[in-house]
Amino acid sequence: MKNIAVLASGRGTNLQAIIENIENGSIQAHLACVISDKQDAQALERARKHGIEAVYIDPGPKKTWLIPEVEQRYVQALQDRQVDLVCLAGFMRILKKPLLTAFAGRIINIHPALLPSFPGLDVQRKAFEYGVKFSGCTVHFVDDTVDGGPIITQTAVPVLDDDTPDILAARILKEEHRIYTEAINLVLSGKYKIDGRRVIKIS
Ligand code: GRF
Repeated sequence: MKNIAVLASGRGTNLQAIIENIENGSIQAHLACVISDKQDAQALERARKHGIEAVYIDPGPKKTWLIPEVEQRYVQALQDRQVDLVCLAGFMRILKKPLLTAFAGRIINIHPALLPSFPGLDVQRKAFEYGVKFSGCTVHFVDDTVDGGPIITQTAVPVLDDDTPDILAARILKEEHRIYTEAINLVLSGKYKIDGRRVIKIS
């Protein structure tokens, strides 16, 4: 059984979906720990409720990234628990060398837009205000770009005339919970190859 870890900064609904899908057998993996840069993250509370180790690691002096010495503590925590796959789920930090090197090709992220459109933050609102007729969500490998690594899976949802950014975000979130599990299963199975930027399933 492979070990996965979830890194989350906030409310943790994607984490919740992962926990439930492990519990119901839709994901065959062990959730070794949930790690947060926020001591009071709801995600940590959700983990504890399910008997999963919840770890807070002080993020240090920077707001949007971790200085190398701090990031190394994240690496150590993951290596101590023999984590095979790191799943970012609303982890609000840009990863740098220590994590990207230690877990090369083994870190994935969920993003609430159809990349490469709308990378960054508050993207459900940005997509809504731009006037797109479809948005959606993307699971991708994490590299040293912001939301720019190879795409594992995506799904589209319509933007309806009477939507608000919040209604659209909720429609996208529902799909996030579904496709993150699919992507985790694919990556854990190892049944894919990466050809340039293209992640291709193999049987
Ligand atoms: C999700 O919309 C995810 O796509 C983005 O951050 C949000 C996290 O939500 N990266 P939650 O904490 O999983 O509820």
